Amino acid sequence: MPKSDMASLLSSWRQRLARSLHLGRSKPHARFVQLASLGEDGRVQNRTVVFRGFVHNTDQIIMITDTRSDKYIGLQQHPQVELCWYFEKTREQYRVNGEVLTVTSESLDAPLRKQVWHSLSVSAREQFYWYLDKTDVDGIVAKSLIPETFCVLLLQPLRVDYLYLGETHQRTISQLSHNTWQEKPINP
Ligand SMILES: Cc1cc2nc3c(=O)[nH]c(=O)nc-3n(C[C@H](O)[C@H](O)[C@H](O)COP(=O)(O)O)c2cc1C
Repeated sequence: MPKSDMASLLSSWRQRLARSLHLGRSKPHARFVQLASLGEDGRVQNRTVVFRGFVHNTDQIIMITDTRSDKYIGLQQHPQVELCWYFEKTREQYRVNGEVLTVTSESLDAPLRKQVWHSLSVSAREQFYWYLDKTDVDGIVAKSLIPETFCVLLLQPLRVDYLYLGETHQRTISQLSHNTWQEKPINP
């Protein structure tokens, strides 16, 4: 499908986000997002993670983590999350609310996990081997083995709150209802 046709199939918030990412592409931090979730004890937790794109032909946002992390443990009981994303250049904020699916070595979606692992830089892969000796790491990285603790996080957005802080403030809420995105402008 030509790129222009693909763009017209995207929901409005996806089209806006594609533009924000494009305009911020020279800044690596445009791909850093704040992910809030609940811990095992039900308390709110928040941290920076890297946005790693969308699953092809879906709205699912890809992130990665380690199954030894607190966020992974909390997500097993509370999949509800909110991702907050600020684009400095265009002064836009997206708050993406939804549920996370964790894809681990036990999951059925092995091809996706493999594909995401192979898309990572060597330094990103090495972070999963912090408990190993450097020479072991080099060998494992070279053989492209996927570590047991590598986990893909798939965020299915259900509500997107967009705020533009330009000369005239603009806020729009997009909500997923019966598989269709409904959008409404909010006037403060
Ligand atoms: C710029 C930046 C990018 C990060 N990217 C990730 C990431 O993609 N995945 C991840 O699990 N942690 C990432 N971290 C580390 C997390 O912010 C956090 O410290 C770690 O995952 C442990 O969080 P938790 O205890 O809430 O699970 C990143 C940190 C920074 C500063």
